[in-house]
Amino acid sequence: MTSIKILPDWFLPESQATSESIYMNRRRFLKKAGLGSLSTIGLLAGCQTLEEKKAVVKQKLLEERLRPITTARNLAFTIDRPLTNEYSAAAYTNFYEFSGDKDVWQKVDKFQPHPWTIEVSGLVAKPQKFAIEDLISKMPIEERLYRHRCVEAWAMAVPWIGFPLKRLIELVEPKATATYVKFTTFMRPEQAGRQILHNQPWPYTEGLTIKEAVNELAFLAVGIYGHELPKQHGAPIRLVLPWKYGYKSIKSIEKIEFSDRQPPTFWNMRFPEEYDFLANVNPNIAHPRWSQASEKMLETGDRYATQMYNGYASYVANLY
Ligand code: MTE
Repeated sequence: MTSIKILPDWFLPESQATSESIYMNRRRFLKKAGLGSLSTIGLLAGCQTLEEKKAVVKQKLLEERLRPITTARNLAFTIDRPLTNEYSAAAYTNFYEFSGDKDVWQKVDKFQPHPWTIEVSGLVAKPQKFAIEDLISKMPIEERLYRHRCVEAWAMAVPWIGFPLKRLIELVEPKATATYVKFTTFMRPEQAGRQILHNQPWPYTEGLTIKEAVNELAFLAVGIYGHELPKQHGAPIRLVLPWKYGYKSIKSIEKIEFSDRQPPTFWNMRFPEEYDFLANVNPNIAHPRWSQASEKMLETGDRYATQMYNGYASYVANLY
């Protein structure tokens, strides 16, 4: 019997990933980017190389008027490689609500991340709803340099700004029966075009055990590169879990719920044999269709051996 493999939207053959970082098909790019604002279009003339694409992305971010966030870097979190260029990171994102490709930055114009409320409920003594600004004012904001590893085997190293998830959990006081935490992204098909696809379990959901959620590394990011999160990185608030494959780091969170059972999650529901609920970075366990032994950095294409738990074993190995 022949079995037919359905490729997830994010599957990108290695050859394609490489050429994306070095060279773009000019015509395809002009067609897609032509949807941008006038000043963006102005920059497109002769647009061909990665440098030119980065200039367009930079211009678009300037037009978003992201507020600067000044805060101290937490020096406990260092990285072993150069930081990824801000505009390369912003030009190559996964956000399936907007695109099945990496061109999310061209498709987020309708998305409105302000005003924003995040609701924390379930098995907690103090369920609460927070306006994002109030939550930020209550939390100890810091900057952390983290490695980020996508299950597709690309990686980046970026400066996130935010606060430990644990600090929010302390505010709501989970009950002793709470063993799992579920996270849910917005549901706004009028702003995020792909949410009308009925064969996918929108809204995007993810989950952690409560022990993972209170780990020091689990971080709620509200900024990156010294300012608020751009839409394509998950404005206004997203999870960052550097020891896990990137799909666990859910973007644009609206709900956090505590429960006593493992929640169903977006990718695990779609392809359970490929996208595990735990999904820790592990060079020794190949994805069913590609190796996880090494990773390639965005922009430079530099290749590094994958590290167990993405190099964060001293923080998390005791959880498993
Ligand atoms: N969150 C939502 N809501 N929707 C998504 O499609 N993609 C995930 C994760 N969070 C995704 C998401 C995947 S596959 C990865 S690798 C990271 O976001 C990518 O984060 P970045 O695009 O900011 O680099």
